[in-house]
Amino acid sequence: MDPAFIPHSRPTLGEEEAKAAAAAVASGQIAEGPEVEAFEREVAGFVGLPHAVAVSSGTAALQLALTAVGAGAGDEVVVPSFVCSALLNAVAAAGAVPVPADVEPETFNLDPADVAGRLSPRTKAIVVPHMFGLPADLDRLAALGVPLIEDCAQAIGAEHRGRAVGSVGQAAIFSFYATKMMATGEGGMVATGSAALAANVRDAKSYDKKHDLRRRFNFKMTDIQAAVGRVQLRRLSEFIRRRCAIAERFRAALQGLPLGLPRPEPGRIYFRFVVDAAADAAALLRQARGRGIGCERPVHTPLHRLLGIEGFPMADAAWRRAVSLPIYPALTDEEAERIIAVVTGLLLRQ
Ligand SMILES: Cc1ncc(COP(=O)(O)O)c(C=O)c1O
Repeated sequence: MDPAFIPHSRPTLGEEEAKAAAAAVASGQIAEGPEVEAFEREVAGFVGLPHAVAVSSGTAALQLALTAVGAGAGDEVVVPSFVCSALLNAVAAAGAVPVPADVEPETFNLDPADVAGRLSPRTKAIVVPHMFGLPADLDRLAALGVPLIEDCAQAIGAEHRGRAVGSVGQAAIFSFYATKMMATGEGGMVATGSAALAANVRDAKSYDKKHDLRRRFNFKMTDIQAAVGRVQLRRLSEFIRRRCAIAERFRAALQGLPLGLPRPEPGRIYFRFVVDAAADAAALLRQARGRGIGCERPVHTPLHRLLGIEGFPMADAAWRRAVSLPIYPALTDEEAERIIAVVTGLLLRQ
């Protein structure tokens, strides 16, 4: 790859993470052990919930959380259409039927009014991602009276009404994939206020030494991952500040261009900086990449299209219009300025 190419995502890792991983290896305890236990305690403390269970990915976390709230064969689970396909897979793996709902054009989050029209007596849960780091409208979604699972895969550290996201739903799930807000390579977590729900997830994530035939998995996290995750959690507020500073710089430099920009909102963090390129997302993506900027569609394919169904105009529009610019703590000031210069140049040429 051209060394000057600015990738869309990049983990932010340093000496401390390397030492923590090496120490876990040197200890001889590389499978789930004390590092995982400590990481669970620390994430629970950060989110402000009493229980957290570490697992192997965000998808596994969502699957097990759905099972633990009782979603299984014959049940429906509402998910937004404008989100990654992990949600479809997790719902299907839990044995339930995914029911996509449309999103709000301004926020890209679930539209509570659209969700209301898609509920049925078989709806067991609503999965609520906080898209790109912007908290969803939890008050209106909670008022629908169906258990919520907050999907914080993109939003650890964001706040809803001054509290870390994750504490309104029956359960919250997190992802620590390499390019997420904090990374363990692969990894996930379920956090909850319910001891019973946490115990259910803990039981299902590990098949060994059990006395019955419940369907269980090997969805455990390793101590090597958890050791890295603990360092990343300590650095999370620094990561969030750096992302916010880059977002402010982008906003100041790009305002005035024919481009919709994410608005500053209380509690918002910038997992992604997603701009509205109107009808021209495809052109902007292609041209920016041609000039060495790794812009991406923030959602690869809306879920309703994967399912072959129609009736999701906002998700379709979001897909046509949205472009995600590189934003991450390891992005240098020079790289941020190059992104601004390229995007400005492309839009002023039009
Ligand atoms: C909103 C959301 N939920 C869940 C996931 C799944 O997480 P993982 O990749 O760790 O399985 C992702 C991953 O991209 C995501 O963006």
